[in-house]
Amino acid sequence: MLPTVLALAALAATSIASPFHDKRWDNLKVKHEWVQTPKHWIEVGPAPTESKIHLRIGLKQHGFDELVKHLYEVSDPSHSRYGAHLSKEDVDTLVAPHPDSTALTDSWLLHHGIQPSSCHRSSSGDWLTVPVTIEQAERMLGTKYRIYQHDITDEQIVRAMSYSLPEDLHNHINVVTPTTYFSTMKAMKATHRIMPEITSLDDDHALQSQIAQPGGLATVPASCSTTITPTCLRALYNTSTYVPQATDVNVLGVAGYLDEFANHADLQTFFSRFRTDAVGADFTVVQVNGGGNDQTDPGVEANLDIQYTEGMSFPTPNVYFSTGGSPPFVADDNTPTNTNEPYLDFLGFLLNQTTVPQTLTTSYGDDEQTVPFDFAQAVCNDFAQLGARGTSIMFSSGDDGVGGSDCLTNDGTNRVLFQPNFPASCPFVTTVGGTIRVAPEVAVSFSGGGFSRYFAQPSYQASAVDSFLAGLGDTFSGLFNATGRAYPDVAAQGQGFQVILGGRTISVGGTSASSPTFAGVVSLLNDFQLANGKSPLGFLNPLLYGQGTAGLNDIVSGNNPGCGTTGFSAGVGWDPVTGLGTPDFGKLQNLLP
Ligand SMILES: *[C@@H]1O[C@H](CO)[C@@H](O)[C@H](O)[C@H]1NC(C)=O
Ligand SMILES: *[C@@H]1O[C@H](CO)[C@@H](O)[C@H](O)[C@H]1NC(C)=O
Ligand SMILES: *[C@@H]1O[C@H](CO)[C@@H](O)[C@H](O)[C@H]1NC(C)=O
Repeated sequence: MLPTVLALAALAATSIASPFHDKRWDNLKVKHEWVQTPKHWIEVGPAPTESKIHLRIGLKQHGFDELVKHLYEVSDPSHSRYGAHLSKEDVDTLVAPHPDSTALTDSWLLHHGIQPSSCHRSSSGDWLTVPVTIEQAERMLGTKYRIYQHDITDEQIVRAMSYSLPEDLHNHINVVTPTTYFSTMKAMKATHRIMPEITSLDDDHALQSQIAQPGGLATVPASCSTTITPTCLRALYNTSTYVPQATDVNVLGVAGYLDEFANHADLQTFFSRFRTDAVGADFTVVQVNGGGNDQTDPGVEANLDIQYTEGMSFPTPNVYFSTGGSPPFVADDNTPTNTNEPYLDFLGFLLNQTTVPQTLTTSYGDDEQTVPFDFAQAVCNDFAQLGARGTSIMFSSGDDGVGGSDCLTNDGTNRVLFQPNFPASCPFVTTVGGTIRVAPEVAVSFSGGGFSRYFAQPSYQASAVDSFLAGLGDTFSGLFNATGRAYPDVAAQGQGFQVILGGRTISVGGTSASSPTFAGVVSLLNDFQLANGKSPLGFLNPLLYGQGTAGLNDIVSGNNPGCGTTGFSAGVGWDPVTGLGTPDFGKLQNLLP
């Protein structure tokens, strides 16, 4: 008898002392779910339950609203704190989770047999990385992981159609990944297009020698209407006489993702043909999370980005961030491990640095509706932090006008709606649309533009956007969300860019060209501020929609068709094709705070 009694007593003691029978963790409530398998992905089988994945848990950032308040104060030229950007420690304090959020999450992990001390935490504690098996993740999140294959790229990923969290955690956890965000680095669209119909230039030495003379070019050469080189852009955007001074501190960063490598030899060829004074200058590469740097495999997107940021900002130091993260995928190994989330990997890395680049450009994006709201919000919140730290963040607006392909919604109703792009639709970045031709510049037809369905209109753009909406009247009513964050904010050339790839010149277009161009101009403005002992510009939009508007060339014609419509039209003032317009460096320089 005795042994049994002892055993029972021991059992009772365990069940009281351990959290294993805490019912609260059984009450699961859906956090995000898709009603249909995301377009282009085909389910090919269950995920191997013993495979390991790293769950990334984003805890609610306790002082996030206050962080946004700081962001707007330090970015508003009329505020006394303008330019007083936050340090890493300041931001960490604001985004740290409430101790209750950490404690509850830890006890949920313990309930599932995971030691909280085995998790990797971001320095403020807002992101937890938890190594688990698929089986463990399925139990924790009340879901089933499956292998999905992309119908065009054949890439395989492990994702879920939905995930849940205990109801008590919904107010403490913002997002868990990888779960329902299906896009991956390779499927994420780089927004360039190769244009074989445009004859490439051998060089533009004649134009370069003209621009080098006192007075420069009286007018922008007519050739710039079809073929763009840095000489065209420097003349057009009024940067050609500026000599950067703050090159010891100023940095221009280019965000690149898996399989896109910027080539050093191609950059030298580019300089020898299109910016001879820069021959010998080079960029540095920072490899994030296993990102590659294969110099035998130059990427169009990477070369376009780096050749034009360098071409505009020389001799400012440029950094190419190559973000990777997945072990090489072996096609015959039935354990796909691509569970990465590239934006989060890169932003987590950057926000963990004590110094951040003053200017950053990214030419990737997705249809907003394909990015789960909780995931999009987590990424957008990271951009707010980077802006508060003093980085000016540029994104391409997308290459599908108001929406690509069929524009059908993925919520089960199959309606045609304009399809905004993300991260272009995040209110904390500066989104760049595209133009063509010179004298006058006009909107390029593919220029992505529209209104977010996730993020509300920020106050900095209310007056500019409301004027546009008043003029638009009922046109396209119901196809877009008039109360959403509107974009693009600005524009720059987007067609006929001369790019060196593998030693050959090709013509490339897309808002992928516009974003690095605009970032090049911003980097020179940051140089000017730093050389004068001022802070870098940081988050640009409050400046651009305020006094900065006078330093932009308003683009007043062209439109961006899509979804079976002619799209929006460019006109006087802000419009969802070219935003406030293209930069005039000289004018912007004169009106900076
Ligand atoms: C942040 O940087 C520190 C110091 O370089 C490093 O030890 C830590 O692992 C980094 N944390 C993350 C989340 O990357
Ligand atoms: C419109 O945008 C707001 C954010 O401003 C969002 O809350 C709302 O759900 C959106 N409406 C539609 C119909 O997409
Ligand atoms: C170019 O910049 C200069 C100042 O550097 C300014 O006077 C001029 O108005 C700007 N714009 C044009 C089109 O020249």
